[in-house]
Amino acid sequence: MLKISNISKSYGNKKALGEVTMELKEGVYALLGPNGAGKSTLMNIITGNLKADGGEILWDEKNIEKMGKEYRRILGYAPQQQGLYETFTGRRFLSYMGTLKEIDKKNLKSEIERVTNYVNLNDKIDKSIGAYSGGMKQRLLIAQALMGNPKLIVMDEPTAGLDPKERVRVREKISRQADGKIIIIATHVVSDVESIAKEVIIIKDGNIIEKDSVKNLCEKYDNAKDLEDVYMSIFGNEEKHD
Ligand SMILES: Nc1ncnc2c1ncn2[C@@H]1O[C@H](COP(=O)(O)OP(=O)(O)OP(=O)(O)O)[C@@H](O)[C@H]1O
Ligand SMILES: [Mg+2]
Repeated sequence: MLKISNISKSYGNKKALGEVTMELKEGVYALLGPNGAGKSTLMNIITGNLKADGGEILWDEKNIEKMGKEYRRILGYAPQQQGLYETFTGRRFLSYMGTLKEIDKKNLKSEIERVTNYVNLNDKIDKSIGAYSGGMKQRLLIAQALMGNPKLIVMDEPTAGLDPKERVRVREKISRQADGKIIIIATHVVSDVESIAKEVIIIKDGNIIEKDSVKNLCEKYDNAKDLEDVYMSIFGNEEKHD
């Protein structure tokens, strides 16, 4: 279980996160909010890539900062930016990431095979990343996050740049492997998470304003017909942030 308590973060004078508190158990969670709401900031803190100003995060009652390597072993992270090694082949990149994750050498080849299959990149895996399309890079990032079968998977805008067919494929695959895992998907694309999220966490100006099932949210917001409706009744009248 992931327990987030009073996590706050400012960049200079800009408050990016208020005090975020929530508990996540097994299942798929969608972190939904517009540009600049604080999704990536929260994801970066959950994955230990950014230090919060205050608060703490516990994995099974252990502070993630104190867990160090042990936390990285249970964690898979697909960040929003595609800072990939353009001269590497896909296979070399996955091999490198697998080594960082300390995946056993004897399992590495089959693990690369497994995640490559998963994101449908088999025929491209020996090509250099520089020659990948945006969507292929995105799928490679997802594949990397799944290596070693992590218990906590954090994906920041995982379907950005994917064509509709791959979008659906990735969505369905994600939902099918959620057993015994916590999967957090940050997105502003409602349709990507509506059918697969156990709960939708809505973030507005750095604060969590809702955390509930799609069904309950629809009831709460004047019997909204779907999550898009809920989203629009919260954010519909807002100016974009950045
Ligand atoms: N490194 C930084 N320095 C200064 N301000 C930052 C930095 N990173 C984020 N911010 C600001 O913090 C706020 C939250 O940004 P964040 O990237 O977490 O939003 P987001 O919900 O992920 O947005 P998007 O949907 O565009 O990815 C924004 O106002 C943003 O401008
Ligand atoms: Mg972001």
